[in-house]
Amino acid sequence: QAEDGIRDRSPSRGLGDVYKRQIIDGKKISEDILNEIHLKVQERANQGLKIPHLAAILVGDDGPSETYVNSKIKACEKVGFSSSLFNYDKNISEEKLIHEIELINNNDDIDGFIVQLPLPSSINQNNILNSVNPNKDVDGFHPINYGKMTLGANSFIPATPYGILQLFQRYKIDLEGKKCLVIGRSQIVGRPISILLSQSNEFCNATVTLAHSRTIDLARHTLNSDVIISAIGKPEFLKAEMVKEGAIIVDVGISRVKDSSSKKGYRIVGDVDFKNVSKKASYITPVPGGVGPMTIAMLLSNTLEACKKND
Ligand code: GUN
Repeated sequence: QAEDGIRDRSPSRGLGDVYKRQIIDGKKISEDILNEIHLKVQERANQGLKIPHLAAILVGDDGPSETYVNSKIKACEKVGFSSSLFNYDKNISEEKLIHEIELINNNDDIDGFIVQLPLPSSINQNNILNSVNPNKDVDGFHPINYGKMTLGANSFIPATPYGILQLFQRYKIDLEGKKCLVIGRSQIVGRPISILLSQSNEFCNATVTLAHSRTIDLARHTLNSDVIISAIGKPEFLKAEMVKEGAIIVDVGISRVKDSSSKKGYRIVGDVDFKNVSKKASYITPVPGGVGPMTIAMLLSNTLEACKKND
């Protein structure tokens, strides 16, 4: 028995000893990737090349968004990137925000930047994302990059889907032919990962179903799936009865639930009832420590690529 009563079947699956078995260790993999990036930054510095610079725009004072942006800035420091945080009042007008974005578009020192989502409802998200210079769009949300991704052309891949692909690759989990259910059709995660996993890329080639709030009899789909990627933000909604034995589970949900025993008054949980689902899954990502840290690592990877294009 491995930790938390999870059967250890990894030797037959050819996993290296480097990683924890069965529980996909996104924290470890993300640290590996950040170390790789750090080395590349040092090489660039030795060659007299530019140090990558990531900027983040945060509008308003949404608690989780502040936490995510701060984690991104902290990761920049860790790998030796420069970083800037632009924090605007929640009442900023769409026109003013677009003006600020244009200043960053034209700032040659900034290689890539992100606009943290969600934005206040008074601002049209698509207008904002359209105003980002596609060459600096390290989130991959501009229609040009989103279109290129959909066509299988070289582009910035949105960081969370990119992080999930990296987990499959680094654990050598090949989805070829597998029945893969993506739950949630968000622009940031569900839709792009459903597109990427169906493409004829290494470790992809999956048979993908995209479920959402209008899906009828979701449990019939989940029970029939080899792989489930859940990205809806409903705490612990995916139960063991909904999952088939040996399924591969990727939990993208990050929800705060009240917890008076915690110092912060809340704890972070995913979409998956981890304690019980992990007893049936062949591989499962935990929350925290699964997909979350991978998002940050891949954002920095995209920023390094953006910087390299300016060499
Ligand atoms: N909000 C939640 N996830 C993301 C992300 O990957 N990028 C941005 N910009 N905002 C987010």
